[in-house]
Amino acid sequence: MSSAVAVTDDGAVRTIRLNRPEKKNALTLAMYADMTTALREANQTDTIRCVVFAGAPGVFSAGNDIGDFLDAALGGGLESRAIDFMYELGRNQKPLVAAVGGVAVGIGTTMLFHCDHVVAAADATFSTPFLKLGLAPELASTLLAPMRMGYARAFSLLVMGRSLSAAEAGDAGIVNVIVDAAAVDAVALKAAEEIAALPPGALAAARRLMRSHGDEVMQRIDAEAELFKKLLQSDEARAAFQAFFARKK
Ligand code: COA
Repeated sequence: MSSAVAVTDDGAVRTIRLNRPEKKNALTLAMYADMTTALREANQTDTIRCVVFAGAPGVFSAGNDIGDFLDAALGGGLESRAIDFMYELGRNQKPLVAAVGGVAVGIGTTMLFHCDHVVAAADATFSTPFLKLGLAPELASTLLAPMRMGYARAFSLLVMGRSLSAAEAGDAGIVNVIVDAAAVDAVALKAAEEIAALPPGALAAARRLMRSHGDEVMQRIDAEAELFKKLLQSDEARAAFQAFFARKK
């Protein structure tokens, strides 16, 4: 387990905390692997009844590490650890809560479509600048975002790369509750405990019915990944990654 992902169990709740604040919790391949393992174990452990995804103070995640994107663009294509995480999330059966403070970019936002209850800080922002990087949306977001928020809002977010405030994300059905930044983790944990206390059989059955499009989700992850791999090799994507690291602050 890399030190950039901390996994803790408290009663029936597992917390998977992203902990790379110096890089705004940009997700490395090692972090994806850790999250996959933590989620898989949770699914295989009866006593874990709810999982919380949390970030560091003031930052949920700046999305995929752009250095890894650049390596993939210059080298031989997309490494499987990110895709493995997407599959694990796509077939996950345990209720998921997210505690989002600060920025949620790229997969930091699209993973929320796989969560059941999202607590956001009032200053949280949600954005998916895939097209600006010469890439395309992933993690079945082309399926789930239009379902959740309607096509018009999904297009603004996923394709135009427009950012949503916490209040807009609440209106769009991505966020359940908005709280002060300092309270995000505690409110999310309380919700997770409430969910974990529900009768597990009924909970699993209800959740399965509410997420009955599981096969379609897995197929969409694959279709998007095919496109993503091609776009990663494009000149425009490579130029966008290099421009990110060359930017003046
Ligand atoms: N990949 C790699 N490094 C990243 C990163 C990412 N996705 N996001 C941030 N970082 C790094 C920065 O390069 C910087 O590193 P440095 O201190 O060694 O220069 C550090 O994290 C802090 O980022 P910085 O840009 O200075 O913070 P900020 O508060 O001004 O801006 C963001 C925060 C998230 C708005 C900005 O970093 C950003 O836009 N990141 C890219 C997001 C993105 O496009 N992700 C991919 C989505 S598909």
